[in-house]
Amino acid sequence: MAVDLLLGLQWGDEGKGKIVDVLTKDYDIIARFQGGPNAGHTLEFDGIKHVLRTIPSGIFHENSINVIGNGVVIDPVVFVKELEGLHQFGIDYKKKLILSRKAHLILPTHRLLDAASEASKGKAKIGSTLKGIGPTYMDKTGRNGLRIGDLELDDFKERYRALADKHEAMINFYNVDVQYDLEELEKEFFESVATLKELTFIDSEEFLNQSLKNNKTILAEGAQGSLLDIDFGTYPFVTSSNTTAAGACTGLGVAPNKIGEVFGIFKAYTTRVGSGPFPTELFDGDGEKMAKIGNEFGAVTGRPRRCGWLDLVALKYAVQVNGVTQLMMMKADVLSGFKTLKICTAYKYKGETIQHLPYNIEEENVTPVYTEIKGWDKDLTQLDAAGQFPKALNDYIEFLEKELNVPIKIVSVGPDRTQTIHR
Ligand code: IMP
Repeated sequence: MAVDLLLGLQWGDEGKGKIVDVLTKDYDIIARFQGGPNAGHTLEFDGIKHVLRTIPSGIFHENSINVIGNGVVIDPVVFVKELEGLHQFGIDYKKKLILSRKAHLILPTHRLLDAASEASKGKAKIGSTLKGIGPTYMDKTGRNGLRIGDLELDDFKERYRALADKHEAMINFYNVDVQYDLEELEKEFFESVATLKELTFIDSEEFLNQSLKNNKTILAEGAQGSLLDIDFGTYPFVTSSNTTAAGACTGLGVAPNKIGEVFGIFKAYTTRVGSGPFPTELFDGDGEKMAKIGNEFGAVTGRPRRCGWLDLVALKYAVQVNGVTQLMMMKADVLSGFKTLKICTAYKYKGETIQHLPYNIEEENVTPVYTEIKGWDKDLTQLDAAGQFPKALNDYIEFLEKELNVPIKIVSVGPDRTQTIHR
């Protein structure tokens, strides 16, 4: 058996939660491999909307086991709130949620450091979700971090204190105004840790590889998007983990030759939340229309998302870096009513027309070159089969498939589980 991957191909918020939820019935295990509570995976079914942060999107299905892999960073406080949210729906998470001992812990001081670091950057700020992601991964690679497995050690509190004290000195070093009551934050942290310890901690790489040997099916659920990848994204306006396919191998401990299908998810247009370059961004009525119809507000921070036309140059790059084998196009319904749709098929860069993503994609370096396609009027939200698609939508899909050389297998026409059309 192989591990299938599900990855966002843009700047996050592509709708990964919804698709994992749709696909979960085909898998025994759903595993998160990177990121943390900066993610907000939205699932809608039976008229209720759920937003998951660190917990895999398979948690609502009866039989799936949900694994949080070593590549994830966990904030016990946010995590326990998430567990409480599940409790009201009668989800027996103790049975079907397991955590890698090697996953790193986000301490309250990591969050404070995130805030201090962003404040010190002024206008150059990343637009971080301020969940402590960057500082926690810095401690991981700097070999200072605390891990889930450390919670089982007798001297955890001393280890915690040593790291938190160091963080406080660093916060002072930033010399910016960050108000906090650490005692209060630590009280909440240790109470949450006590609840967290009621869950099962495992050596997840061992568990997953044994599961593969036992013919279990595994879906690895990515967070954020490929253009936020620490190596391949629009650095430094990125997150601090590898959001691309390779991150699933290091974040779960599965070998590259164990990867099967790579599902790539993209929106029929593009959005970005936070700072950083975005060549096809719209500042006109079209962008406002996408934001309004698409309800483009961050699931974690509530910030409005920037909107723009589909960027095929960036999408091709993401398909290549990830080795995508099947595509899923989300939010097709949002484009209903546009007379003409634009797709960016090349960039003007240093006087040349190029079709690959260059090192610098800031506004002053690249100008998008668009291909125009006729739009459609039909409301797609009530459709339930690809045979009902308007011709212009089929033309849009076929154009993308030809350019990307990968089939688009799912078209999503609304947020609900049922508004998912297989092709
Ligand atoms: P951080 O990972 O919270 O530090 O944020 C770094 C950048 O990634 C910021 O621009 C965030 O807005 C963006 N980001 C982080 N997580 C997500 C996500 O789940 N969806 C979309 N953008 C995200």
